[in-house]
Amino acid sequence: MPAKQDLWHYPRPQLAKQIMGIFDSGLAHSLTLFAPRRMGKTEFLLKDIVPNALHHHWQVFYFSFLDTGAEAAPEFLTALQAFLHQIQFQSKSKVFFRQVSQVGIQIHAAGAGLGAQLQLKDTPEKFADIKSLIHALAAKDKILLLLDEVQVLAQKKENSRLIAGLRTALDIDKDQVKVIFTGSSQEGLRRMFSESKAPFFHFGQNLPFPEFDTGFTTHMAARFQAVTSRALDADALWEVFVKMHKVPFFLRTLVERLALHPEWSLQQAYATMRQEMAEDQTFVKQWKQCSLLEQLLLKRILEKPSGLFSEETQQELQTTLGIATVGVANIQSALRSLENKGLICRPPSRGQYQFEDALFQEWLHEQNLK
Ligand SMILES: Nc1ncnc2c1ncn2[C@@H]1O[C@H](COP(=O)(O)OP(=O)(O)OP(=O)(O)O)[C@@H](O)[C@H]1O
Ligand SMILES: [Mg+2]
Repeated sequence: MPAKQDLWHYPRPQLAKQIMGIFDSGLAHSLTLFAPRRMGKTEFLLKDIVPNALHHHWQVFYFSFLDTGAEAAPEFLTALQAFLHQIQFQSKSKVFFRQVSQVGIQIHAAGAGLGAQLQLKDTPEKFADIKSLIHALAAKDKILLLLDEVQVLAQKKENSRLIAGLRTALDIDKDQVKVIFTGSSQEGLRRMFSESKAPFFHFGQNLPFPEFDTGFTTHMAARFQAVTSRALDADALWEVFVKMHKVPFFLRTLVERLALHPEWSLQQAYATMRQEMAEDQTFVKQWKQCSLLEQLLLKRILEKPSGLFSEETQQELQTTLGIATVGVANIQSALRSLENKGLICRPPSRGQYQFEDALFQEWLHEQNLK
């Protein structure tokens, strides 16, 4: 099958090279990419890491834990088993994907076709546990596991055995098997990797996932010009990107829209997108699922994330809610609930609460202006 290039993709070969270099040199055996929603983690794995790894003759396995929930363990084992099968039968494909619909992967590498899910009916060896499965993989070749949205595992206690088994397996076979974990819920990842009781304690070194620089918007402007034969001011695009908290998903959607609507100016397209976001029903639903105190705290974080527990804040909350006392414990519990809902997080480096999803933040900002 001929490979189809994603014209819009802005490649980051240096970052991919750096990460694969860390594995090759043995400096680390597992890394964690840690960034808020829609910042391009999955696209980076699939479109930058995968081609680099294939080029350097890794066998690559991609698995997204999104939507697996309580079924994570059996689904993961089945997928790994199929991956082993693919290697054993020396399929031309060196890459195995599970759940890629979101990004619509099209990969081309020397000698490798597109990964496909294989039937397991004729698999000669079957492994019921993760340790022997990973060990069997390690015996075959050098293996790169890309485990996306891995924090989902930590949400269900049914998965604790899988987490423990995976950790042991990766420790034993670390010379042959390398892993990149990613996750959008910083809180979930923190829970999975940093808590001393979690079996992944100290596992997976954090690697900052850099924001896009002006190269991204220049690339998008150039692609736009190539596709539409119309000019697009790269500096103006960068300004919009910064206004949108540098979320690539938003910028890309904006540019694609602009391509489809020649009558729109950049500012018009931007205003239309903001309008659509303001009416987004998912955000309305998330908002409605919050208690009054939670809603007030969200607004407070939007305006000023510091001093959430101060006397002054407590007074303000009491007055607005019309109740006698809102203490530190009430605020703490509401913040925890917001974290569990995946609306806010507190990155270990910064200490202050921030929005998990910049689009939700923008949506709330729009509501406040009304
Ligand atoms: N390198 C890139 N070049 C062009 N567009 C990109 C790039 N990276 C991301 N995007 C755009 O941003 C969107 C979101 O990226 P992606 O799904 O990889 O983010 P994510 O961090 O995995 O998000 P989530 O946490 O929601 O899974 C992509 O669908 C694409 O439109
Ligand atoms: Mg993703």
